[in-house]
Amino acid sequence: MSHAYRAVGWNRQKRIYDFTLAGGVALYLVLFVAVSAALKPEATIETLLIRAFGTGAFLLLHLILAIGPLSRLDRRFLPLLYNRRHLGVTMFLLALGHGGFSIVQFHALGDLHPLVSVLVSNGRYDSLAQFPFQALGLAALLILFLMAATSHDFWLANLTPPAWKALHMLVYVAYGLVVMHVALGVLQAETQPLFPIALGVGMATLLTLHLLAGWRERARDDELTAGDGAMVEVCRASEIAEKRARVVTVAGERVAVFRYDGKISAISNVCRHQNGPLGEGRILDGCVTCPWHGFQYDPATGASPPPFDEKVATFGVRLDGDRVLVDPRPNPPGTHVEPARLVES
Ligand code: HEM
Ligand code: FES
Repeated sequence: MSHAYRAVGWNRQKRIYDFTLAGGVALYLVLFVAVSAALKPEATIETLLIRAFGTGAFLLLHLILAIGPLSRLDRRFLPLLYNRRHLGVTMFLLALGHGGFSIVQFHALGDLHPLVSVLVSNGRYDSLAQFPFQALGLAALLILFLMAATSHDFWLANLTPPAWKALHMLVYVAYGLVVMHVALGVLQAETQPLFPIALGVGMATLLTLHLLAGWRERARDDELTAGDGAMVEVCRASEIAEKRARVVTVAGERVAVFRYDGKISAISNVCRHQNGPLGEGRILDGCVTCPWHGFQYDPATGASPPPFDEKVATFGVRLDGDRVLVDPRPNPPGTHVEPARLVES
């Protein structure tokens, strides 16, 4: 077994990342409170904390949602993608701080249970200007809680990757709820144009990045032309760097085509661990190594080296000169496929 094959490990890079993240968040909170207190001396510390935590969580949510498309557009953003879960949990803690402070401040002193109070103390669900925007924040917080609570690998394995992924796609619902929470909440009373403009710029940036990344992927997919028989021409062997892959979409499936030691193999691009992009990893010790947490797979069989038993689908592959042809029908995970051999010219 390779030393590089390990379930989610802690390494120096991750520690630096977490340290920077914690430092950045602390700095943001301190600066926000200090600058707001100087600009609005009448504001209480509770209000300033609610605002610091709320805006911090919302900014971090934008960053988290931008990382996916950014790393599809430019590989240099990939290190951010690998540690996105830590960002997510940090963002939830900030949102919890904001929601918790708000509930203690505005809903804890009455006869009703504070959470019930958030939902019913203002019954103006029929009014846009006076909508009980806190209820939208609470709904978003519940989704963020579910995501943070299931972010551990234990849940990924138990829920199965597709169910886990579906649950975590709810982040977009949470984002929509927070946008409404802010638009129907603070923005109703806000007279300065800066805040609606900032919200609009944030939404427009995310939308543009997602559209650009989707458009770029579609354009790449359209380049694929049908080859002989059932095989599909996907790229040129000379375009693939040694021990690296090209990621292509064949019949709707993301396939990683690896080049190594004069051979070409094609396997599913989706890591069994957490759906990480295998084609963005490389071959280490003869194995495709997932860039996210280091799970490894034999490129010819799609199977993890013993004693591990993860398997991904393999694809038939053939070379026609420099042209790489891939069979669009995936083989059952773990099926051995003879690699195509490059002929030295
Ligand atoms: C139990 C859940 C929540 C409650 C009760 C709640 C309550 C509030 C209240 C009372 C305000 C207005 C504060 C003010 O006037 O300054 C506010 C604003 C805001 N909330 Fe929430 N919120 C909740 C969840 C969330 C979540 C999950 C997020 C983001 C991830 C969020 C982001 C914001 C933002 C960005 C603002 C505007 C800036 C501010 O004034 O803090 N809130 N929220
Ligand atoms: S090793 Fe975690 S997603 Fe691949």
